[in-house]
Amino acid sequence: MGKPSKKKLCKLCKLKGLRKESVIYMKEHRLALCEEHFKEWFEKRVKETIKEFRMFKPNEKILVAVSGGKDSQTLWYVLNRLGYDADAFFIHLGIGDYSDESMEKVIELGKLLGKKPYIVKLEEDIGAGIPVLQNFVRGTACSVCGRIKRYQFNKIANDLGYNVVATGHNLDDESSSLLANLINWNLKYLARKYPVLPAEKGFPKKVKPLVKMTEEQIKLYAQLNNIPFTERSCPLGDTASLHFYKDVMNLIENHALGTKYRFYFEYLKKVYPIFSSLKEELIEGELQKCKICGQPSPSEICMVCRLKEKVKQQKEGS
Ligand code: AMP
Ligand code: FES
Ligand code: ZN
Ligand code: ZN
Repeated sequence: MGKPSKKKLCKLCKLKGLRKESVIYMKEHRLALCEEHFKEWFEKRVKETIKEFRMFKPNEKILVAVSGGKDSQTLWYVLNRLGYDADAFFIHLGIGDYSDESMEKVIELGKLLGKKPYIVKLEEDIGAGIPVLQNFVRGTACSVCGRIKRYQFNKIANDLGYNVVATGHNLDDESSSLLANLINWNLKYLARKYPVLPAEKGFPKKVKPLVKMTEEQIKLYAQLNNIPFTERSCPLGDTASLHFYKDVMNLIENHALGTKYRFYFEYLKKVYPIFSSLKEELIEGELQKCKICGQPSPSEICMVCRLKEKVKQQKEGS
């Protein structure tokens, strides 16, 4: 993937006998495109991904999980642009200015699209945000945050009657996390690593329509369309390892163009079916309905309901 080159002309314009400067040169596709043709190319590729993986049908109601960052904001925008009926929800994690600014970007985009996002605030729903909740459980802030987010994705979709939840994961996310999970032989994760996970056991269908798009392409598409997004990253997140694997993938990509794409999509074709057939054995623990909230849970009372109880006890005690 290269920087926009001043010298390169749009390949599609050239075919029509026009000389137009490109805004991006995608080395792995040997393709330089102008603004108009890049936007078209991007939208077509997202549409093809949705069709190829049978993510959803044109008239299906979709719920996009938006974080205020470039990927999920672009996803919400592009799905609407492609004519899909896509609504969005945002989880305010209670992480100070970071959560407030992210929420503002989500609301701003909602106004542009003429849609009101659903917003859940952990401080109202559970009684506290991630900075407090992380003290009640073992593991890092990120791991408890990830579990709470997954719970909220499922609950909100179930409560609001959406069968499909879409997230903004991109090719860089997916190829680098595949690498990290292969290196660590994290089989449980590998058995579920696919751009579409069907609805099952009380969970809605989960889809990742941006899996073919790189971070650079998404950021440029967002900028060209004036999509509001925050560039801030979470102050609690320990992202060192995540960045490390992204850097490694970029290093390999620069050595052999197209590796990111091949690594991930050949995995899906050749290896995923093997792990997936072992899913039941690899993902241990039967799920049951939480006795309090009714959401799927590995224990009688789910983690979120236990957290609510702990927060309540702490408030009563103080
Ligand atoms: P992350 O795990 O932070 O890389 O986020 C992965 C995806 O989860 C994003 O692309 C969003 O679709 C979704 N997501 C992350 N944070 C939030 C949030 N606070 N509210 C709703 N969706 C989120
Ligand atoms: Fe979850 Fe930072 S976004 S810990
Ligand atoms: Zn062009
Ligand atoms: Zn519960």
